[in-house]
Amino acid sequence: MHQQILILDFGSQVTQLIARRLRELNVYCEIHPWNKVPSDLSAVKGVILSGSPFSVHQENAPLPDLSELYAQYPVLGICYGAQLMAIHNGGKVMRSTHREYGRAFLQEVSSHHPLMKGIAQQSQVWMSHGDTIESAGEEVEIICSTDQVSFAGYHFKGTQRMGVQFHPEVYHSLDGKQLLSNFVMDICGCEGDWTPGVFVDETVAMLKQTIGDQQVIMGLSGGVDSTVAAVLLHKAIGDRLHCIFVDNGLLRKDEFANVMKDYEDMGLNVKGVNASDVFYSALKGLTDPEAKRKAIGKTFIDVFDSESKKVLGATWLGQGTIYPDVIESVSVGGGPSQTIKSHHNVGGLPDYMKLKVVEPLRSLFKDEVRRVGASLGIKEQLLGRHPFPGPGLGIRILGEVTQEKVALLQNADAIFIQLLKDQNLYDSVWQAGTILLPVQSVGVMGDERTYEQAVALRAVTSTDGMTADWAELPFAFLSKVSNDIINQVRGINRVVYDISSKPPATIEWE
Ligand code: XMP
Repeated sequence: MHQQILILDFGSQVTQLIARRLRELNVYCEIHPWNKVPSDLSAVKGVILSGSPFSVHQENAPLPDLSELYAQYPVLGICYGAQLMAIHNGGKVMRSTHREYGRAFLQEVSSHHPLMKGIAQQSQVWMSHGDTIESAGEEVEIICSTDQVSFAGYHFKGTQRMGVQFHPEVYHSLDGKQLLSNFVMDICGCEGDWTPGVFVDETVAMLKQTIGDQQVIMGLSGGVDSTVAAVLLHKAIGDRLHCIFVDNGLLRKDEFANVMKDYEDMGLNVKGVNASDVFYSALKGLTDPEAKRKAIGKTFIDVFDSESKKVLGATWLGQGTIYPDVIESVSVGGGPSQTIKSHHNVGGLPDYMKLKVVEPLRSLFKDEVRRVGASLGIKEQLLGRHPFPGPGLGIRILGEVTQEKVALLQNADAIFIQLLKDQNLYDSVWQAGTILLPVQSVGVMGDERTYEQAVALRAVTSTDGMTADWAELPFAFLSKVSNDIINQVRGINRVVYDISSKPPATIEWE
């Protein structure tokens, strides 16, 4: 069992970032809702209390009794967490007359204090609070301030409990990672024993033990998560892992053949199933985005079901679920109501499939999946691929989907993506793709009038797809993409660039 830090989530928007920073330090940690402290704490070395959208004075504010945790573990409170600890110690938190949002600079940093080791005197930190700590009760040492806030950081003397009003987990707090390292390494005594190599060895051993001599089936999508999960499973049980890769006719140009080759090179036991016609028939006549999504999802299940029945005796279903899909989030509306995100593509498998689910990546963030993939020797080109939605080009062709439209879009999209790669821009955007618009417009080519279709280019920056901004690609680049598409793809005479952020738009158009 790995040394572990328990993160209690009070609903802050950035709780996940605390976990990510700790994982970057090779420290294993888990996020749990504030009202669901796990019963087994045997591996826990310390506790972090997150921020929250609540004020401690608000009705329904989460004010749990944490005395048992305080007695046993070092505890770091962040923002709301720091205010809660102050209240628990008999302190006072007030609605602030000088609210602080955004950048602030530390002063009077107590460099001798273990939490503040290596933190610069004028270090930039990120604040986001409307309440402020007036007093943290008895026996308190202030270990840093800002010009607005005296209790920017404090410590209850003679204990292992401390709090910071700012958010060390966000990138804008420049020494934040150092502070978190001081807490988990020096104060809690973690050793940083959570590395990709260790993860692979332990996971493979666990998979061998769990699955024994049984058979696993798994749908692959060509994406990073399912690939890394499959390689781990393959390492554990060899060809008793039966992978199925469905060509739904909505993949990118040449994608099916290229990805099949990659899988075979990796030694995976994979069956490619060309089901394009079934998907096109299911999509015939449909124009409503939700109806199209449902038709694609249902067809996928039918195809996958009939293929998996051919794998006799399979009792397990492998999935590429990752940690953000399973973290229970504390709703801003308060209380214990929880939402668990379901995995996009295979979450809808019907009950009658009666398979046990194995999810080797359940505890990892996306960047950790990539690190694990690299340590397994998976090609960088595959690990660095942009996300691609399960319904594929079906939700990038507005209106009815036909084979001809797919071919048209594939050709335009291939030009865009290849140019991003050629001009070293591919890795600077989080996701890119081309959308076929359901309009025709007039153009002129040579002396001829054209009346053809338009495509939109979409490229976004993001960290998790939840929010996104349009990527500021160079004009010269966009101009080249536009020229190449219009000159090379017969049927398209106009290219536009989507400059909408998410929210209010979404990344995909449907
Ligand atoms: P939106 O369009 O909601 O997309 O801003 C956010 C991210 O999710 C991807 N996406 C999907 N991925 N199955 C998937 O595997 C889906 O049904 C699906 N729909 C959207 C989208 O490409 C973007 O990365």
